[in-house]
Formats: sequence, structure tokens, C-alpha cells
Amino acid sequence: MKVLVIGSGGREHAITQKISESPRVDKIFVAPGNAGTSQIAENINIRVDDIPMLVAFAQKEAIDWTIVGPELPLVLGIVDAFENEGLKILGPNARAAQFEGSKAFTKAFLKKYEIPTAAYEEYTSLEAAKAGCAHFDYPLVVKADGLAAGKGVVIAQNEAEAFEALDDMMAHKHFGDAGEVVVLEAFLRGYEASILCFVDGETILPMQAAQDHKKAFDGDLGLNTGGMGTYSPSLKIDDAMMARIQTEILNPFITGIKEEGIDFKGILFVGLMIEGDDINVLEYNVRLGDPETEVTLPRLKNDLMDIIEAIDQQRLNEVTLEWSEEHAVCVILASGGYPESYEKGKVITGLDKALNGYVFHCGTKMVDGQVLTNGGRVLGVTALGETLEVARQLAYEDVEKITFEGMFCRTDIGVK
Ligand code: AMP
Ligand code: GLY
Repeated sequence: MKVLVIGSGGREHAITQKISESPRVDKIFVAPGNAGTSQIAENINIRVDDIPMLVAFAQKEAIDWTIVGPELPLVLGIVDAFENEGLKILGPNARAAQFEGSKAFTKAFLKKYEIPTAAYEEYTSLEAAKAGCAHFDYPLVVKADGLAAGKGVVIAQNEAEAFEALDDMMAHKHFGDAGEVVVLEAFLRGYEASILCFVDGETILPMQAAQDHKKAFDGDLGLNTGGMGTYSPSLKIDDAMMARIQTEILNPFITGIKEEGIDFKGILFVGLMIEGDDINVLEYNVRLGDPETEVTLPRLKNDLMDIIEAIDQQRLNEVTLEWSEEHAVCVILASGGYPESYEKGKVITGLDKALNGYVFHCGTKMVDGQVLTNGGRVLGVTALGETLEVARQLAYEDVEKITFEGMFCRTDIGVK
């Protein structure tokens, strides 16, 4: 079969790698892809939000399945557009993608279906939102409702910071329409965990948990990033905790979507905050995580295309996920300055010497036969090993071989 993967990051490289190992897949296109995907598939120069062009391409090439990596096209309705043309595509439709596209939508759903989450209030006017801050203690979490490229959440330590965040979102429109509605939310303490799940509308099937490291620097210092590294399986989620997550968090999601008539098919990423016995949902995403995917798919033994077809036919209840016994570690190599401003176009060397596992490309491009940096997160260096410690050693051994100007990474990914 012919498959089209949409996106250009490490997640999409890992998806492309995984399906390239499927005996059922003959040809893979990636739109727009990166230097890494171009080595195992054919890159197509179409942007992820150019839905008409993507539909036209899928029709022209008679693509059998399209897999969407990032949230933007899902929220824009790519699934509706493909399905209207009778094209098969994995992901939630525009209505179901609201679980990532609107924090107010998600909070209302969580509350209605009694899924544990932080107390919140929703506002559509600046004055009312400022007055509402008095209903909360500090720190207070201020969230722009819509998609804001991961920057729409501010943890305000005092009223001045909360008002500044509200001014930025609602008056200065830093995130455009995304800030027309804001959510004020009680601050939760604890540690974060991400659970990625396959969903077919009837069944929600969690993958083995991956642990992300969101802060830029060692020891969880510095700014929040998209993720500086991951390991899987998580040491923090044991079987007893997973059983509770299934009954208290995941099953009520299915009850809720059925009750609401929301047709959710694809991936649900559940972001949790855990403290002692308290498990709260921080957010939903409607796609795989990046860099969670880079340690999850290499450990998955099932053929991904079999799972995708089971989702399509609502047979996920018949699927058993099988996992490698090995541990996986992914270390992100980032451009100096990330997650703030950074330079692009630096030559990357040593890629051919890093052979312990997979070097997933997150932000790269090929120019005249050279691989150049093209993003904040540049590479995800993944290795598998019998223990977490071995996987870590192998990943960092490969990291040592790769260089580009300004490169930095955390040295404590997967440290117990
Ligand atoms: P979100 O996009 O809603 O997950 O928020 C992004 C990040 O902000 C999360 O990964 C957390 O690190 C942090 N965050 C969001 N909501 C809360 C909260 N209620 N309490 C503490 N931290 C939060
Ligand atoms: N690593 C977090 C995310 O993909 O949103």
C-alpha cells in the first residue's frame, strides 16, 4: 500500500521509520518531511496546512492511507476534507480535534464527565478575566483557549503577572484568535506524565508510558520546551497506577464522547499531573507526542498499519499491543538559544557515525547533499538497551559523535 505522512518533525520521521518496516507498505511520501525522511521515503513539498493541495496529491497518487503528525491540520479539518473525498486518513475530525484546539471545550468536557482536572473558569472579556483572578490563589495558570504553538500557557506568580498575561492574550492578541477566550486554572503540583492512546470511538487502548523532560536544561532548569528528551517505559507509572488511569481517566473519555456524539478516531495524548494519589488531566492532545513517539514506536512490535485498520473498522478491542522488553532513551539535540530565538542553516556532521540506534530528524533540511539545521529541536538520538542505563549510554555515545555550531542537549535524560 501507499502511505502519506504529514509533518516534518522527529515524530513524523519515527512514524515513517516504523511504517517503512511494515511488509504491507510499498511506498511512503512525506509532506513536507525533512532530511531524515528523505532517506527512507519521498518528500513532497506541500505545507501541512495546505489541505486542498494534500487532498489533490492523495487523489493523484491514489494514496491508501494518510497519517497526520501535527495538530494544526487536524484542527483545520483535514480529516473531514479527506473523508469527504473518500480518502482514508488517521486522525480525529475537526469537531473531535477540539480536544486540542480549545482548552475551554476540553475543560467543560472534563467537568461534565467528572474526569479529575484542576478547577477553572472561562472568560471572553479582559475586564471579567482580571476580576476572576481574585477567585484563585497564586501561582495561577492562565491559558489561551486556542492553538498557540505551545506558548499559550502562563504560570503567573502574582496578580501583576496574571494581568500581563491576560493583556498579552486578550488585548494585544499575541496569539491572534486563540486568545479571544481564556481559561484561568488552579495550579497543580506534582510530576507530569504523558499517556498516548489509540482510540476508535468505542475502545481506548493506551500505549506503554513515555516520560518527557520539558525543561531546557539539566535538573529541570530553564524554560519549558516542546520536550528535550524522553525514555520509555516510564519508571513513574506502574501497573497499579495504569489500572487507575484506565478506569478513572480513560474509560470516562469514551463514555463522554459517545454521550456527546463525538466521533473520535486516532490518537489521544493525555497529559497528566500526578501527586501522591491525585491524578489530574492537564490537557489532551489529538496526536502523538514529540519526542514521546521517538521512544514509543521503536518499542512497538505490532505492525502500525494493522492498528490503523483496526481503528478504522472499530476493532481496536481485538488488538493487543506488544512491546519490546528493551528500554528506549531519546536525547534531543537543540540549536543554541532554543526555545527562544536561534539560528538555522548550520552544517551537521557525524550523522553517519551514530549507529547505535536511530537518529530521528526533528528540524533539518538537505541542501546540496549536506544536512543543515532547520529548527530549534534538530535531532532526536534514540537508542534501545536491555536496561534504561544501557539505553542511556548507547544514546549518549551517539550524541558524542554528532556536532553542529551552537548544539546543546540535556545530559540527564533517563537518569533515575
Ligand atoms: P497544557 O498545554 O495545558 O498542558 O500546558 C502546558 C504546560 O503548562 C503543562 O505541560 C504544564 O507543565 C503546565 N501546566 C498547565 N496547566 C497546569 C496546571 N493547572 N498546574 C500546573 N502546571 C500546569
Ligand atoms: N512532548 C509534548 C508534546 O508533544 O506535546
